[in-house]
Amino acid sequence: MSIFREGILKGRVALVTGGGSGIGAGIAKRLAEQGAKVMLLGRRPEMLDAVGGEIRAKGGVAIGQPTDVREYADVEKAVERTASELGGLDIVVSSAAGNFLSPAATLSANGFKAVVAIDLLGTFNVCRAAFAHLSKQGGSIVSISAPQAFVPTALQVHVGAAKAGIEKMTRDLALEWGGAGIRVNTVVPGPIEDTEGMRRLAPEDPATQAKMKQRLPLGRWG
Ligand code: HXC
Repeated sequence: MSIFREGILKGRVALVTGGGSGIGAGIAKRLAEQGAKVMLLGRRPEMLDAVGGEIRAKGGVAIGQPTDVREYADVEKAVERTASELGGLDIVVSSAAGNFLSPAATLSANGFKAVVAIDLLGTFNVCRAAFAHLSKQGGSIVSISAPQAFVPTALQVHVGAAKAGIEKMTRDLALEWGGAGIRVNTVVPGPIEDTEGMRRLAPEDPATQAKMKQRLPLGRWG
């Protein structure tokens, strides 16, 4: 018997961008454990298959659709498939993100644009495409932000700009869509262990890592 049947999200449908890895995959699995049917979006089909397979093996419901969140038409297709195959849409988690370390002085315009397009435009695309469904009976949007949105951070000017944009857009959408019964929020995780972001950003040197952890209230990665 499934361990997922009686969760608090039983009967709900969730769509998670960046659902094939890292924070998005973790959230997708928790949503499924709580009974939600889940659509996973990401660029790499094999990652979606792996996460979806893990959820299904435990008795949950998950499907995946390879999608680049920068392409509105593809995002809209995925949203429509979610609603038709899973029976609606109640929850959107925007977790797809791009990141690399680069000094601002040598970052190309295209490099800046790539991250802003994945993080900020991608979040707009999924919110916009989902509105028609979320507004039917109310729903919730949660976008994954980052401390870089608020804290001056070297080598992260592209990420900071994108995440700060997500923060402001979230407030605007919360105002515009609250009347339609849609809650719009961000979550701002710090460094989360075993994610692609940390593999790209965290220093390899254990002593430097230990120093970074000292600045965190719990003294460890999430
Ligand atoms: C400088 C770089 C670069 C690097 C790419 N670019 N990597 N510039 N340093 N390391 C430049 C390229 O030269 C190019 O510009 C432009 O960016 C686009 O690169 P592409 O490879 O063509 O783009 P694309 O294939 O779309 O890749 C997007 C990407 C990539 C963001 C560049 O790294 C990616 O998709 N990463 C996977 C997702 C990811 O990183 N997830 C972790 C997110 S963690 P030119 O000018 O040459 O054309 C996170 C928060 C962590 O967001 C917070 C922790 C506290």
